[in-house]
Amino acid sequence: ERYFGLSAPLAGIRALVTSGPTHEPIDPVRFIANRSSGRQGHAIAAALARRGATTLLVSGPTVEPDPAGVEVKHIETAEEMWAACRNGLPADVAVCAAAVADWRPALAAGEKIKKAKGKAPPAIALTENPDILAGLSAAGNGRPRLVIGFAAETEKLVENATAKRLAKGCDWILANDVSPGTGTFGGLDNLVHLVSAAGVEDWPRMSKQQVAEELADRIAAELKRAS
Ligand code: CTP
Ligand code: CA
Repeated sequence: ERYFGLSAPLAGIRALVTSGPTHEPIDPVRFIANRSSGRQGHAIAAALARRGATTLLVSGPTVEPDPAGVEVKHIETAEEMWAACRNGLPADVAVCAAAVADWRPALAAGEKIKKAKGKAPPAIALTENPDILAGLSAAGNGRPRLVIGFAAETEKLVENATAKRLAKGCDWILANDVSPGTGTFGGLDNLVHLVSAAGVEDWPRMSKQQVAEELADRIAAELKRAS
C-alpha cells in the first residue's frame, strides 16, 4: 500500500533507521559480527518511506536489497554506523534495528595474520564500540523526538527490555523474543512486545513486514499526537 501527497501520514518527517549487523575487522580477511538478516530494519525503513517520510537507512552488510524510496548509506563497522547516524541528524524519529557488535578488536592487523606450526593462536584484545541507540537518545538539541530500539532477548524478555529502555534513554523498545524455537532469528516472523513509559503491549506473532507496518503506523500516530 502506498500513500500519496497530503494523505501521506509521515510527509515532512525525517526518519533514521539502522539495520543489519556490523563487521569489525580482525585483519584484512577476518572479522567478528552479530547474527542479523537486516530483514526487520529494512522493512521498517520501507514502511516509513511509503508513508512519506524522508528516510535514511544506515545498513551493515546484508543481502537485503536497498528498499525503494529510501536513501541507503552502506557501512561496515559500528564506528562507521555511528558517524553516518550523526551525519543523518537532525531527524524526527530514529529506529535502531541494527545488531551492532558490542566490541571490536582493539587493533586490526594491517596484514593477514598467518598461522604456523607451533605458533599459539592469536589473542584478540577487544574494546567497546559506541552505543548508537544510547548516543542518539542523548543527542541533546538534535535528539529525534522519538527514539526507538530493539531488545533481542532469550530470557526474562520484558524485564530485560524495560531495564534496557531506561539504561539507553530511548522512548520505546521493541522486545524481541529470539529464544530457540521461536524461529524469529533469520526467519520471516517476529514476536515482539512494545515497551514504553506507558507500559508493555504484547503484539501477536506476525511477519516482520507486518511488524514494520504496525510500528510505522504507531510512529505516525505518536508524532501527530506530540506535535
Ligand atoms: N545498539 C546500538 N549500538 C550498540 C549496541 C546496541 O545502537 N553498540 C542498539 C541496538 O540496535 C538495539 C538496542 O541497542 O536497538 C539493544 O541492543 P542489544 O544488543 O539488545 O543491547 P545491549 O545494550 O547491547 O546489551 P546486551 O547485548 O548485553 O544484551
Ligand atoms: Ca548488544
